[in-house]
Amino acid sequence: MDGNGRWARSHNVPIAAGHRAGARALKEVVRRAGDIGVSDLTVFSFSTENWNRPKDEVDDLMTLFSEMIDREVPELDAEGVQMRFIGRRDDLAPALRARIEDAERRTGENTRLRLFIAMNYGGRQEILDAVSRLASVPEDGVTEDAFRAALYGPDLIDPELVIRTSGEQRLSNFLLWQSAYAELYFSDKLWPDFTADDLELAVAHYGTRERRFGGR
Ligand code: IPE
Ligand code: MG
Repeated sequence: MDGNGRWARSHNVPIAAGHRAGARALKEVVRRAGDIGVSDLTVFSFSTENWNRPKDEVDDLMTLFSEMIDREVPELDAEGVQMRFIGRRDDLAPALRARIEDAERRTGENTRLRLFIAMNYGGRQEILDAVSRLASVPEDGVTEDAFRAALYGPDLIDPELVIRTSGEQRLSNFLLWQSAYAELYFSDKLWPDFTADDLELAVAHYGTRERRFGGR
């Protein structure tokens, strides 16, 4: 979800308003994802590198995350959305962590759509954390299955499609292990302008791709 800052600048509003507009776009996209039968949706909300932003902006984002959880969880729960968080949650404020754990508990049995929220997430950090979590390396080496089991979301299916907004064409540390065979889709729209219809366009485009996974 990239482009909140540029959206704010182009509308002559504070950065915080850009993030809030981004949150509104997310709500619409999550709803449509459920409607069109997406089973797993992962959104990159806050990266391990985002702490380097000005303190005001980081504080505002943390407040926004808490507000969003408080406001949206009841509705998401009622719609059958299971909420999961991936990332280094130990570095988050205790109050936010408590909300995260509460949201996961409350929605844990839902099956309509699994919404993974990457929060304080970094793909390289996830790989390093997985390596540290592997208690020991068996003599015949680590298998893909064993490694996957040590990731933040062991049951998170590999993304079939990765969408990046705002015209940037890079992965920026997102699901590095899991995206090995993902189709990449780039939209020039800034995230707050990305609509549910844009999601459908991206999914339809995905339907035209031929995936061979290195085969013929
Ligand atoms: C993405 O939008 C939102 C977060 C990283 C939380 P940006 O804030 O990165 O927007 P730009 O790149 O400055 O436009
Ligand atoms: Mg950005």
